Amino acid sequence: MTGISRSVRRFRDWDARFEAFYIKRPHPAFTVIDKVTPPFDAASPPPIEPVRVSLDDIDAIRAYVATIEPADLGRPIQLQ
Ligand code: HEM
Repeated sequence: MTGISRSVRRFRDWDARFEAFYIKRPHPAFTVIDKVTPPFDAASPPPIEPVRVSLDDIDAIRAYVATIEPADLGRPIQLQ
């Protein structure tokens, strides 16, 4: 997980992105958070084994991501 996390960590709003990852595609298709996420639509079941996390797990992931170095992806594109 560290690779993509280091890239997302570069964003000023990285914390909000992790806090709400389960409502952003592709995650709703396979993520289960007890008493938070709605049940899967029977017509489109999860394509992989569901990822089951709690809100406490997400807090722990955010605390971990806070400790990692943002990836160095180079300078932003310079418009000329
Ligand atoms: C607890 C597990 C996971 C967490 C906390 C997590 C978190 C995140 C976050 C924060 C992003 C960046 C979203 C943004 O740009 O705003 C992301 C992107 C993404 N994740 Fe996950 N993820 C998890 C599991 C997975 C799994 C299991 C898959 C695939 C099987 C997956 C596929 C993706 C993809 C494809 C993107 C890029 C989406 C895009 O840029 O449009 N993630 N994830």
